[in-house]
Amino acid sequence: MNILVTGGAGFIGSHTVIELYAAGHTAVVADNLSNSCQESLRRAAQIIGTDTIPFYNVDIRDKAGLQEIFEQHTIDACIHFAGLKAVGESVSKPWEYYDNNIHGTLTLIDALRQHGCKRMIFSSSATVYGEPAEIPITENCPKGTCTNPYGWTKSMLEQILTDLYHSDSAWNIVLLRYFNPIGAHPSGMIGENPNGTPNNLMPYITQVAIGQRPELGIFGNDYPTPDGTGVRDYTHVVDLAKGHVSALSAIERGCGLAIYNLGTGKGYSVLDVVSAFEKASGVKIPYRIKPRRAGDIATCYSDPSKAEKELGWKALNGIEEMCRDSWNWQKKNPAGYICTEQK
Ligand code: NAD
Ligand code: WQD
Repeated sequence: MNILVTGGAGFIGSHTVIELYAAGHTAVVADNLSNSCQESLRRAAQIIGTDTIPFYNVDIRDKAGLQEIFEQHTIDACIHFAGLKAVGESVSKPWEYYDNNIHGTLTLIDALRQHGCKRMIFSSSATVYGEPAEIPITENCPKGTCTNPYGWTKSMLEQILTDLYHSDSAWNIVLLRYFNPIGAHPSGMIGENPNGTPNNLMPYITQVAIGQRPELGIFGNDYPTPDGTGVRDYTHVVDLAKGHVSALSAIERGCGLAIYNLGTGKGYSVLDVVSAFEKASGVKIPYRIKPRRAGDIATCYSDPSKAEKELGWKALNGIEEMCRDSWNWQKKNPAGYICTEQK
């Protein structure tokens, strides 16, 4: 299939483009480069062994820009990664988050249906469960109250896509709820490229390891977890990328509306991740315990068995591989990508 990949220059998108080609699909990327560089796609093309990956510097709120893509390509399905994702920023800029993520997705949906393409995989998040009602979290766990506008955009977009499906069953839509993507392509050529101070744990750890930051702040050690630090379901980005290929097969089979957790089912605390990283890298990570971060929950990990049963997808990499590959990427690219294009 030929897949429109919105946000395909980003962290998860660039890894997914590689897995799409590996599975015999092709991709057309639409990205406004607001949080990425085209360099990720140049490198992805090298890994794939293709000259170029068709790329459009397009904002998904731009109707005419999307129209041009559909005029030039036959699109069989869309994998929709494009969105703003910084939790803290979304609290100070709610309008920008609702505009970018919700208005953007509505514009994209309209373009898709006008061109008769009613197949979408949507990047959702474990954040939609809020303070989860059960651990491990199955897809039957009710959605919860989000603590920030970013989370609400994911929750609302899931609802919008669900309502769309109920209004027109010609749509096939898969909502993928990701659990803490980390790691990088094992080549070390592509990886996570945070802008400024990382919000997430693993890029912060790798920047401490490379000497860019003096120490890691650990946000609370008084949670009701085995060592008091927050527990999460870290998932290797390459496994996550492969999950999209599996979801595409479900779409081809005519799955209707389907929801899957993509996680490993295992929970690791912040201190577990620090020691796994130290073991994988041989680098000591100095840390200091700090107050809890607003909006954080104690424990969040998935029951990923539905994806295994229905999609045949299972995360194959463990925390060792995740730490190894995050470190390999950071070591080979101490300053991330060097962006040549104008923002
Ligand atoms: P990312 O920021 O690396 O990638 C998102 C891409 O979308 C970027 O390349 C950005 O330039 C692009 N983009 C943003 N707004 C756009 C717009 N209006 N038009 C066109 N392009 C636009 O983030 P990521 O980590 O790869 O995340 C991909 C998706 O997965 C996002 O929707 C994110 O919310 C979701 N998600 C991420 C995580 C995570 O921890 N990384 C967890 C759960 C869900
Ligand atoms: C993991 C653990 C922190 C940084 C967020 C979003 C979620 C999803 C994934 C997009 C927590 C602790 C972190 C640091 C720390 N994103 N931590 N020091 O919070 O589980 O999820 O990213 O959809 O919506 O909320 O991930 O990596 O920020 O934190 O101690 O410098 O590490 O408190 O326990 P989180 P994270």
